[in-house]
Amino acid sequence: MKVLVLGSGAREHALVKAIAADPEVEAVIAAPGNPGIDATALCVAVDILDGQAVAELARQHAVDLVVIGPEAPLVTGVADVCRSAGFPVVGPSAAAARLEGSKSFAKEVMAAADVPTARALVCTTIEQAESALDAIGGPHVVKDDGLAAGKGVVVTDSMDEALEHARACLAKEDGCLVVEEYLDGPEVSVFCLSDGTTVVPLQPGQDFKRVGDGDAGLNTGGMGAYSPLDWAPRTLVADVVERVAQPTIDEMRRRGTPFVGVLYVGLALTSRGPRVVEFNARLGDPDGQAVLARLETPFAQLLHATATGALADFPDLRWSSDAAVVVVIASAGYPAAPRTGDPITGLDAAAEVPGVAVLHAGTKFDDEGVLVSAGGRVLDVVAVGTDLAKARSAAYEAVELIELEGAHHRTDIALKAERGEITVGV
Ligand code: AMP
Ligand code: GLY
Repeated sequence: MKVLVLGSGAREHALVKAIAADPEVEAVIAAPGNPGIDATALCVAVDILDGQAVAELARQHAVDLVVIGPEAPLVTGVADVCRSAGFPVVGPSAAAARLEGSKSFAKEVMAAADVPTARALVCTTIEQAESALDAIGGPHVVKDDGLAAGKGVVVTDSMDEALEHARACLAKEDGCLVVEEYLDGPEVSVFCLSDGTTVVPLQPGQDFKRVGDGDAGLNTGGMGAYSPLDWAPRTLVADVVERVAQPTIDEMRRRGTPFVGVLYVGLALTSRGPRVVEFNARLGDPDGQAVLARLETPFAQLLHATATGALADFPDLRWSSDAAVVVVIASAGYPAAPRTGDPITGLDAAAEVPGVAVLHAGTKFDDEGVLVSAGGRVLDVVAVGTDLAKARSAAYEAVELIELEGAHHRTDIALKAERGEITVGV
């Protein structure tokens, strides 16, 4: 099998590694890829938002499968173009990717499918937003309706801050926002593969969205993750399939816009049970990396079954009993104003720590051939170990061996879980 993977971050590095490890895979092509991916795949510089260019690349290399990593090409319909050109694709059509691309659409589908989620009101004027904030009460949750690269959501006790974010959302063209009930409880990610009909869940992971230890500071794309979640209810994944993923997949198919790809279910485990915080139309980053590090099933075959309507007959997934911890190394100034162009050293030594792999998130070779930072999130250190404590200590041992001036990382990834300090409200 030849596989084309779209994207250039650590999620795509993990996807490429897992796909290449499948014995049925003879070649992986990545567009555009990154210096880490380049070690495993043929990287080709193509604009991944240009569906025709992507389909042409798939044709040139006669690939058997196209896997779309990030949300932006999904929302612009790259999956549609590749499917029309005859390629099996992991990644929903533009119509189905609205589950991620529009919060109000996601809420409408959840209401139609009777999926448990926060009560929400959609607003297109500041007067509506004011009365919605009054009606729902605090803490206030205000969400930009559209994609906002992790900056769309404000959670605050302050009515002024809530209104300020509402104004910013409404100032955009066709501005629209969602005011929603605050959900209390630990957050988890459950990724569900679907071929449009059948749902195959992966094991859950947890992501750390805030920049600082103890969940202090600004929201980011994600500063770390781990899997499995020994503290979560045993029935979590089965409940999410039954109450959330299967009804959503059924509703999307009923509407004539079947969802084929990875449905990312972000949940809060509240005292009243799991509630959906958000849907995404792709694997999470970095939570996906923690989950993939533990999957033993040949991944390309699983993705091919997803893309070709063959999940119902796919064998049960096999998982390592190891724990996986991902620590993100971010550049100086991330997330507010990331600095790029700083040299990176120590990667070989880090990768020699037993159980550790280093994934490239935002790196490039400069004109002199030196590996430098090229984004806010620069590297993911992924470590597996027989338990969370061992995986954590391997991850942090490797992090210490990497040098990048001004870089920062969280020191408490998976720490509460390791100490047994996470509880689900009853
Ligand atoms: P989203 O982009 O919808 O994932 O939201 C980003 C982050 O904001 C989530 O991971 C939560 O930490 C927080 N958040 C979103 N919605 C809610 C909610 N209804 N209640 C509490 N926190 C929320
Ligand atoms: N880990 C959060 C995201 O991928 O959206």
